[in-house]
Amino acid sequence: MLQALDIEVGFPLGQGWSRRTVLRALRGVSVTVAQGETVGIVGESGCGKSTLARVLLGLIEPDSGQVLLEGRSVSHRHPAALRQLRRSVQMVFQDPRGSLDPRLTIRESIAEPLRCLRPEVSAREHRTLIGRTLEQVGLDRELASRYPHELSGGQCQRAGIARALVAGPACLVCDEPVSALDLSIQGQIVNLLADLRREIGVGVLFISHNLSVVRHLCDRVLVMHLGQVVEEGSAAAVLSTPRHPYTKLLLSSELLAEPGRPLPVLPDGEPASPLSPPTGCSFVGRCPVVMETCHHEPPLMNQDTVGHSLRCHRWPDSTNSTHSPAMPRNTAARRPK
Ligand SMILES: Nc1ncnc2c1ncn2[C@@H]1O[C@H](COP(=O)(O)OP(=O)(O)O)[C@@H](O)[C@H]1O
Ligand SMILES: [Mg+2]
Repeated sequence: MLQALDIEVGFPLGQGWSRRTVLRALRGVSVTVAQGETVGIVGESGCGKSTLARVLLGLIEPDSGQVLLEGRSVSHRHPAALRQLRRSVQMVFQDPRGSLDPRLTIRESIAEPLRCLRPEVSAREHRTLIGRTLEQVGLDRELASRYPHELSGGQCQRAGIARALVAGPACLVCDEPVSALDLSIQGQIVNLLADLRREIGVGVLFISHNLSVVRHLCDRVLVMHLGQVVEEGSAAAVLSTPRHPYTKLLLSSELLAEPGRPLPVLPDGEPASPLSPPTGCSFVGRCPVVMETCHHEPPLMNQDTVGHSLRCHRWPDSTNSTHSPAMPRNTAARRPK
C-alpha cells in the first residue's frame, strides 16, 4: 500500500562554498507497509528513521528513489498525488502535548485535518466523525472541549492519534509515539495501536528504539544503521534470532528490569559519521566479527527463503551463530559508566 524504493536523502550542510558537505541521511532505503500490517523501524539515534518518516509523508522530496502509494508514484512535481498521499498517510508524533496547538481545544485540533483533507464533508458529519474517533481512541467525548494543558500525557497522545485517524488514513506513521510517556501509559497506547490495526485495518509504520514494544506490536521489523537497512524480516525472526552483528548489539544493549542482571557489555569503537560513511560496511568500526573485505566492499542485501534479509559479508555463515550476542572485541570491551 505504501512503499519507499531505494530512497537517497542528503542534507547539504554549511553555507556558501562549505555547502558542498553533504550529510547522507538515507542511502538506498526501501520499505513496504501492506494494508493492516505493522512494520517496525529500529536503530540508534541519527540512523535516519525520522528522515524516512518525513519522506513517506511527502514532507521531504528524496534526491533519488520513489515513494509509491497503492502502486502510484508520488512526487512534489505532482501536487494531486501529493495531496492524496497527505490524506492517506498521517503522522503520530513523539511529544503528545507539543504536537497539539495549545490555543485550540481538542475538538478544534481534531477538526483541522478534516477541514483541510475532507472539505467535501459537512460540518454536521464532522461532529459525528470527531465523536466516533474520540470513542475509537478511548477518550471521553467531554474531553473534546478541553485544552491540551488540561489533559494528561496519555490523553494527549490519544487525542494525537484521533487527529491522525479522523480523516480516514490508510496508514499511520508513528515516530517514537510512546517514548515520552510513563511506562504504564506506554502499554495502554501500544495496546490501542494494536486494537486499531485489528479493528480498522490501518497500516502502521512504527518507529521506536524500544525493542520490547516493537516485539509486541510489529509483524515485520527493519533494522537501520547509518542510513541503510542492515536487517529485515518478521519481528519473530529478527528479534529472537538476529543475524546482523549490529542487531545483536542492539538486543544485547537492551536494559531489562531483571534484578541481578548485569549491565550489558558493549564493544569498543565509535559509531561512524553520516558525513563520511565508511567505504565498506557501515558497522565496520564496532563489528566483533569484522573481516578484511568489510573495510573495502559495501555488503549487499541478501534474502533467505523465508524473507529474512541481511546486509553482511558474513552471510550465510552468520546464521551459524544466530543466538550468540554481539561479543566485545578482545580486551577493548568496556562497561558503560
Ligand atoms: N534538516 C536537516 N538538516 C541537516 N541534517 C539533518 C536534518 N534532519 C536530519 N539530519 C541528520 O540526518 C541524520 C538522520 O537524522 P534522523 O532521521 O532525525 O535520525 P533518527 O530519527 O534515526 O534519530 C542525522 O545525522 C541528523 O543529524
Ligand atoms: Mg527521530
